[in-house]
Amino acid sequence: MADTGSLISPHVVIFPFPIQGHINSMLKLAEVLCLSGINVTFVNTQQNHSRLSNFGDVQSRFGSFPGFCFETIPDGLSADQPHSTGFRNSQDLVDMLHRLKNVIRPGFRELLTSDRLKIDSRGPVSCIIADGILGFAIVVAEELGIPSISFRTISACCSWIYFCLPKLIENGDIPFKDEDMDQPIKNVPEMESFLRCRDLPSFCRAKDLNHPSLDFVISETLYSTRATAHLLNTFDIEAPIISQLRSYWPNLYTVGPLNALLNTLRSRTANSPHSSSSSSKSVSSNASLYEEDRSCMTWLDKQPEKSVVYVSFGSIAMVSREQWLEIWYGLVNSGHRFLWVKPPDSLLAKDDEESHVQAETELIEATKERGYTVEWAPQEEVLNHSSVGGFFTHSGWNSTLESMVAGVPMVCWPHLADQQINSRYVSEVWKIGMDMKDNCNRLTVEKLIRDMMDVKREELTKSTAKVAEMARQSIGSDGSSYRNYEGLLEFIRKSC
Ligand code: UDX
Repeated sequence: MADTGSLISPHVVIFPFPIQGHINSMLKLAEVLCLSGINVTFVNTQQNHSRLSNFGDVQSRFGSFPGFCFETIPDGLSADQPHSTGFRNSQDLVDMLHRLKNVIRPGFRELLTSDRLKIDSRGPVSCIIADGILGFAIVVAEELGIPSISFRTISACCSWIYFCLPKLIENGDIPFKDEDMDQPIKNVPEMESFLRCRDLPSFCRAKDLNHPSLDFVISETLYSTRATAHLLNTFDIEAPIISQLRSYWPNLYTVGPLNALLNTLRSRTANSPHSSSSSSKSVSSNASLYEEDRSCMTWLDKQPEKSVVYVSFGSIAMVSREQWLEIWYGLVNSGHRFLWVKPPDSLLAKDDEESHVQAETELIEATKERGYTVEWAPQEEVLNHSSVGGFFTHSGWNSTLESMVAGVPMVCWPHLADQQINSRYVSEVWKIGMDMKDNCNRLTVEKLIRDMMDVKREELTKSTAKVAEMARQSIGSDGSSYRNYEGLLEFIRKSC
């Protein structure tokens, strides 16, 4: 492990965008820093925090680090608003942006300037690590004279496209000129040969340049360039894009896959003769806003090797009843077993149409033997289970990395934001899966699942093993992510 020899431990404030995928990767980073002797204050919004603390996992992960604590700030959600995950429509995002500006931003500023952190026994704040889409946190750091690190929890390829958006607008690529989503996009360096309109992040589909979500990603990307340093959860697989970004962000640390780096550091700590840390316990790397249903692990234990398709569309993708049925028919008709995660609030407006209800009842009956559903699964454990042979995913960046590390091929059905470009890279560049983008019907689902599990099994096994090995090497002691992790520690120590 990197040297932790400084007398004063630095104190880092970590602040994620308040949704599951971002909290997960930032909590992994928090644990990596704690294991390296750094004090961490992790800032959560109120409702997310109370959902996290309902479940024991987070306490068992962080309970043994005296230098770790949570702080909460208001989120502007009323008691009757169920939570702050899930975007049913663009209005949900607009509401979130409104709360960010009017409640969360002042709450964060107040926390940093109040006595709450000043009287902290862990010393003054030496550095702020803010989510790359919370530009105001970088501005607060500037105002207080504190160094800041902007952590984009998405892929480098998506970060690079966000960076190129002003140029795409200037060249007239956005808004799209016609309905043909297969039109090539030639103005993103490194992606000229395979990028189409439909592969650009979902926000680029806006017809109006003033659309709040497009405006948000452009302005936050601009803000983030003001950070003292930058952090990405990625590794050599994105090397060409990383070097493009590095020409704009010289202090760029790529430390991914964070789940793999964390597991390495945990096992080193557990094996250290001086360690009494409870981090040696086998605990999940994720911190869920939903309660994990572990019964699926018992079900997986009973299935043949590599026979199960794991189906999950992350925490914020919403699925219509019609799409849900198409996926179900596709899975059933593929003849393969499946474990399907359906978070309780992931279905768009319920429809009681008699034919749909009838179809669903028939499907539940037909899939009793071969299918298992849960509301939330211990995903990393599932992906590493020997009976899982493929992942039907929405291409969220955490899920993509977790699948790469586990060496599991993917069928990608991207929904929003970075997922559109992640799925293109999975299919066209890394060749570790297939992209079902914009095409959810039972025949396509059936075909792609069969391709993944049978027809293309051999070639996918080779390519996924290669990528898993690359991930493993990057977090090994001579690997690029490990060296960047050491560089990051040095940067943080110099800040205090
Ligand atoms: C969001 C965005 O959608 C994603 O594109 C962006 O990259 C990060 O923020 P989300 O949609 O939730 O996140 O997807 P993803 O990034 O894949 O994160 C989901 C996390 O939840 C993963 O770490 C996954 O392991 C975990 N998870 C998911 C579980 O632990 N159990 C489950 O049942 C489902």
